[in-house]
Amino acid sequence: MSSIATTSRAAWTAAELADDESWVFRLDARAQRDLVDAIRSARQPDKPLLDYRRSDFDLGHAATFIAAAFGETQRGRGIALVRGLPREGFSEDEFKLLTWAIGLHAGVARPQGKASHYISAVRDAGTEYRTGRGRGYSSNAELDFHTDSADVVALTCFNKAASGGMSIVTSSLRAYRTMEDEHPELVEFLCEPIHFSRQQEQAPGETPSYPNPVFDELDGQLFSKWNRNRMESAQKIEGVPRISAQHREALEQFDLLVRRPDLAYSMWLEPGDMQLVNSHLTVHSRTDFVDHDAPAQKRLLWRLWLATPAGERLPESWRAAYRAVEPATVRGGIRGQAYDERRRAFEETQAADVGMVLPAD
Ligand SMILES: [Fe+2]
Repeated sequence: MSSIATTSRAAWTAAELADDESWVFRLDARAQRDLVDAIRSARQPDKPLLDYRRSDFDLGHAATFIAAAFGETQRGRGIALVRGLPREGFSEDEFKLLTWAIGLHAGVARPQGKASHYISAVRDAGTEYRTGRGRGYSSNAELDFHTDSADVVALTCFNKAASGGMSIVTSSLRAYRTMEDEHPELVEFLCEPIHFSRQQEQAPGETPSYPNPVFDELDGQLFSKWNRNRMESAQKIEGVPRISAQHREALEQFDLLVRRPDLAYSMWLEPGDMQLVNSHLTVHSRTDFVDHDAPAQKRLLWRLWLATPAGERLPESWRAAYRAVEPATVRGGIRGQAYDERRRAFEETQAADVGMVLPAD
């Protein structure tokens, strides 16, 4: 895979990202006011999120900033930060609706787990992370570097922790290039399929794990997927091919690389920040945290997974994980065990509203 474009803007080092502000978008006062107005005029406290339509929210002046930030995730830096979402004066639920409204303008939200839910509260619910069923977002643990199961992840910060909970992002393209330089004998293993566990959240008809390479390329572009926890879990599932010692060594070295300070960019998400990451170009993590005592101050971020109209074709090797690989298709997510007609209808309507294609199944 020597002709791959690992020289793009998405192949950054921590220092390069720190020196560049082009991926940071600060909302001005008018954009902030327009978002407050959008939420205040559309919100009906008892209305389910799935019943809102894109046209219910006029993002006004903020729309340009938000579109530019999503554009940056595509084939720019692969990461973007929107600062200054209106946080003051918004309740947890209003801020959640703001996150949802942004998602309705950006693409089609994807389900995120066993409960087939389309938005997650990222907070410490006491979950054990390192188990065969564990999901990191509902724990306070330090997370391994990983990619989420959708094209783009949007994370809006409502409250910070008392301490810790720092967000860390690494360019997987740059890590690949470094791997080629420093461990040329191992890099080929990263391009072999390996099973990822579904952590017992599989939908009816889905297998407990699926194969996907850590890296694959299409039309000279590199795509990555990474989740050590899920790969290790899959190795314990009956019938899953066991990996060789060399393959494991490649994973080990890559795991060390993505957390190396010259590659890993650390950042604090402040209340009112929205972080966007492209799952195919970056891996991310966050440090463990200590929460506030007062319930209203506890760390809380809202997380959306999105398929977007700008979503490019994915390598065929992504089909098992994403269900579809064609451009601008509604793909990715974790369908889970509560996916029903109502959710399907939401996806159909929303796909039509943003000009995307919903696969038949
Ligand atoms: Fe994540």
